Amino acid sequence: MKRIGIIVGSLRGNSFNQMIANTIPELVDSAKYEYISIGNLPLYNADLDRGEGLDPVRHYREAIQKTDGILIVSPEYNSGIPGVLKNALDWASTPTKTAVLIHKPAGVIGATPGVKGTILSQQQIRQTLDATQSYVLPSQKMYISQVMEKIDSETRKLTDETTRKYLQRYVQSFIQWIDQVQRLSE
Ligand SMILES: Cc1cc2nc3c(=O)[nH]c(=O)nc-3n(C[C@H](O)[C@H](O)[C@H](O)COP(=O)(O)O)c2cc1C
Repeated sequence: MKRIGIIVGSLRGNSFNQMIANTIPELVDSAKYEYISIGNLPLYNADLDRGEGLDPVRHYREAIQKTDGILIVSPEYNSGIPGVLKNALDWASTPTKTAVLIHKPAGVIGATPGVKGTILSQQQIRQTLDATQSYVLPSQKMYISQVMEKIDSETRKLTDETTRKYLQRYVQSFIQWIDQVQRLSE
């Protein structure tokens, strides 16, 4: 069974993106999932980035290391990547030669109450993952617009049937992508 790490780019208690992330395991139960938190990471500072480094950073990097791939589920802030997520990706991008994101399969998902589905944020996330030499699932995109109408605030899950099917297909494709990447590196 593939181990998939899920990183949510919002720290908000009632985050819609967290609700989308919470729905993934029930849509595709052929993988194991681990939610990797980013809220306790310090702001990136190269002075703190020495040796094994700080505990939260070490735990975070180890958590990514143990996965076969990571799914990023993130909002868009001011037409771009939320600062907390960029900070977390920067911490996973060093040390330069052994960083945990190098050759790591990655998928990108985003939800917004707005109508443009986090397109701009996802472009920047992909740009960052390209710089970290991660292998992002090509061509398929998972934009979720008007998310407030698609979730149940009681169960805190995605309930819109069409979106659930798209998300299921996206995650299934991501698992196939991990297989392809693993075969390439054999
Ligand atoms: C500082 C800030 C900037 C935002 N900019 C955008 C934006 O550019 N595009 C967008 O679709 N939504 C934008 N939003 C609205 C977010 O999509 C909305 O707050 C969303 O619920 C955040 O995701 P979350 O529910 O997972 O926390 C912004 C929200 C904040 C707080």
